[in-house]
Amino acid sequence: MAPRAKKADPAPPAAPAADALKRLEEMKKKALLGGGVERVEKQHAAGKLTARERVDLLLDEGTFDEHGMFVVHQCDAFGMEKNRIPGDGVVTGVGKIDGRPVAVFSQDFTVFGGSLGLAHAGKICRLMDLAMKVGMPVIGLNDSGGARIQEGVESLGGYADIFLRNTLASGVVPQVSAIMGPCAGGAVYSPAITDFTFMVEGTSYMFVTGPNVIRTVTHEEVTSEALGGAAVHNETSGVAHFQSRNEAECLQGIRRLLSYVPQNNLEEAPATACDDPPDRREEKLNRIIPEDVKKPYDMKDVIERVVDPGSFYETAAKFAPNIVTGFARFAGRSVGIVAQQPAVLAGCLDIASSVKGARFVRFCDAFNIPLVTFEDVPGFLPGVAQEHGGIIRNGAKLLYAYCEATVPKITVITRKAYGGAYDVMSSKHVRGDVNLAWPTAEIAVMGAEGAVNILFKREIEAAKDPDAERARLVAEYRERFANPYIAAGKGYVDKVIEPAGTRGEICRALELLRNKRESVPAKKHGNIPL
Ligand code: HXC
Repeated sequence: MAPRAKKADPAPPAAPAADALKRLEEMKKKALLGGGVERVEKQHAAGKLTARERVDLLLDEGTFDEHGMFVVHQCDAFGMEKNRIPGDGVVTGVGKIDGRPVAVFSQDFTVFGGSLGLAHAGKICRLMDLAMKVGMPVIGLNDSGGARIQEGVESLGGYADIFLRNTLASGVVPQVSAIMGPCAGGAVYSPAITDFTFMVEGTSYMFVTGPNVIRTVTHEEVTSEALGGAAVHNETSGVAHFQSRNEAECLQGIRRLLSYVPQNNLEEAPATACDDPPDRREEKLNRIIPEDVKKPYDMKDVIERVVDPGSFYETAAKFAPNIVTGFARFAGRSVGIVAQQPAVLAGCLDIASSVKGARFVRFCDAFNIPLVTFEDVPGFLPGVAQEHGGIIRNGAKLLYAYCEATVPKITVITRKAYGGAYDVMSSKHVRGDVNLAWPTAEIAVMGAEGAVNILFKREIEAAKDPDAERARLVAEYRERFANPYIAAGKGYVDKVIEPAGTRGEICRALELLRNKRESVPAKKHGNIPL
């Protein structure tokens, strides 16, 4: 039997494949157009970048890998079936910041005003699920008219799906929000659950109910900016932690912030090269505390002089400035700094500063970032407003946060450590690991004048010259109690150090504590006094 002739390979279906590629290109082109040229121009005219322009500025060049580009809504109400725009008003995907992967979503105001419907929410949820699986930070760039009105309750469900994921991801992967346009109604609660919120001056605002509703309900007249602009939320409400002059600065700020934090709760923050000697002395610190104990100085000056040069990155700088929080590096390694600011309210702890400090301490603890505390605190702020406002409940938050924290904790008492505030601020009693005091430290139940007025009330009243007697007793009290040696004698302070050598002491302590392991008793979760 003659061999069968071998069949020739079928010719590749050249035309259909080319068509398929062309279709893909066309679909991509359409998706990249977003809401169209006109709306993009309107966005630019409002001083805002588009969703994709923002992503490009945020990420390392050429690293963005978009997911869900062709997702469209399934809504048929209000003529929406004739208007399906690929991407559905949010750009989602992964990219890199300083070579490390991050998940990003960026709402596109040019598509249905960036409003959130079911498909839009689904894209964000899938991105968050991916971030949780691989352990990478989530960055949300918000620019949205809120719940998509045409989609009704499905939009509300979409928000709740995101809130749940924000909550489950809290303490597992860092979450950062940037508000770059409107963020109103329930939409505000996603950024509120995330770890840090940036706002851009002039173009962003956040509120639960806007000026129109307020006018109707309370008859108050207020603009969007005055109600929920960047300045309000950075200075007054404490909702936002960074205020940026423009979008580029905001996106650079996010990049900088992430350089201090690990990818997830199981990793350490990245270390950077540092040529500043760990034991560098800073002679100025020996003279920084004023002779007069009532005189302030700038604690940020102390911080800047001991950390790696230029590494201090302050968080919530404008809210409750009587406490300073921020990230910095010692010998290239990230730390969280918490410090009293004697230049504001004498560094007293009040409601706002307690809450600010507590949230920062908890972030650092969740993400394995050691805490360095600089303490100069005359106590909790006295006053009816503070008591009625709940300084007990709110002060307890900071106490709880420090007690609970198991990361390395180093404390430097520069001057006052009075009363309950001494206990709170990372004392040995709440598991502070290495507690250092400058020779100028005063560790006591209260300041000399207050103590003398209580202890020697009768003696002062009975004296021929009460003022002179008070002054004599104050001087005596100061000499005996206003120093670090009683606490050091009891082991409550590990070392009294020369201020000029503070950097070396902190670097040594951090090195010592690198492998610290400490835990809290097994529990579902604690009940922090909220
Ligand atoms: C559907 C919306 C929309 C929304 C805006 N658009 N918001 N579409 N649902 N929520 C559309 C507009 O119809 C318009 O479409 C385009 O987006 C741009 O909006 P403009 O109004 O032209 O822009 P601007 O003048 O800049 O005003 C922006 C705005 C305003 C202030 C955000 O649009 C506005 O007030 N929107 C409604 C906000 C709101 O009440 N959202 C619901 C909040 S309650 P065209 O086709 O004309 O370009 C909420 C509940 C969440 O969010 C609950 C979670 C628990």
